[in-house]
Amino acid sequence: MFITRRLPDPAMAILHEHGTVTVWDQIETPIPREALLRGIADVEGLLCLITDRIDAEVIAAAPRLRAVSIMAVGYDNIDRAALAARGITLTNTPDVLTETTADLAWALLLAAARRVVEGHTLIERGAWGPWHPMQMVGQDIYGRVLGVVGAGRIGQAVLRRGRGFGMRLLYHNRRPNPAIATELGAEYRSLNDLLAESDAVVVTAPLTAETRGMFGATQFALMKPTSIFVNVARGPLVREADLVAALRAGRPWAAGLDVFEHEPIGPDHPLLTLPNVVLTPHIGSASVATRVRMATLAAENLVAVLYGRPTPNVVA
Ligand code: DGY
Repeated sequence: MFITRRLPDPAMAILHEHGTVTVWDQIETPIPREALLRGIADVEGLLCLITDRIDAEVIAAAPRLRAVSIMAVGYDNIDRAALAARGITLTNTPDVLTETTADLAWALLLAAARRVVEGHTLIERGAWGPWHPMQMVGQDIYGRVLGVVGAGRIGQAVLRRGRGFGMRLLYHNRRPNPAIATELGAEYRSLNDLLAESDAVVVTAPLTAETRGMFGATQFALMKPTSIFVNVARGPLVREADLVAALRAGRPWAAGLDVFEHEPIGPDHPLLTLPNVVLTPHIGSASVATRVRMATLAAENLVAVLYGRPTPNVVA
């Protein structure tokens, strides 16, 4: 088995119990391409992260490969066609990160709506003047309309939290899902109608050929000038230059973003020139407990496939 990054101990223990493990023994640095190509030459199992591009060249470099396990729910960095052509099984780590990621979506939503980071920075700069009636005013979230684009597990968890905030709930998926209406009381909308009606738009859709670039100037122009846009899914769903222009023009009113077109972004990124954004460095699933659960599940998935045991996490 080849592991592209040192994982928390419980996950490493599972892997070591089940065979020979070679690991790119770094915590913060992704494996260089050459090392990955060399490392997988003779293995049957690969455990990788979202920072590893697993494409046809990598698959071709691993003639014995039977299983790829990603420690993530998203797998847009993996060439599924190349895996399928070789009959290699792909697994991911859904469910265990759902609530943690939904929490972060709400953290960004509330922070952007109520200018939390701007307020912190104001105090830090020593620029906090006397209280006045319209000082640092933001937008309300309680009782407003929440629209979720891509209401899968994480999107539904975001909607569920909206009930506690007395919100009217809308969602957009490729197709309506009657269970979402029954269980959460959320109404289906076309993307355009959802954007026009929502006070808060939260994106939780996977990155596919269909969703890449689905938010651009046309979509932002449909949003309310008081609305908040949140993306905790994948950066390339959004045409970032269009978002920067839209935020500069004030529609949407503010944005909370955990993901970016090209990660990691640096301090010179145009988004950082705007006061109405709150940015986090792709930490949707980053709680201690959830990251340990994801690593453990990724290890269990890999072992299950290699030993011919059932696992519910095979990507169809
Ligand atoms: C995922 O799981 O897809 C996240 O982006 C990383 O936690």
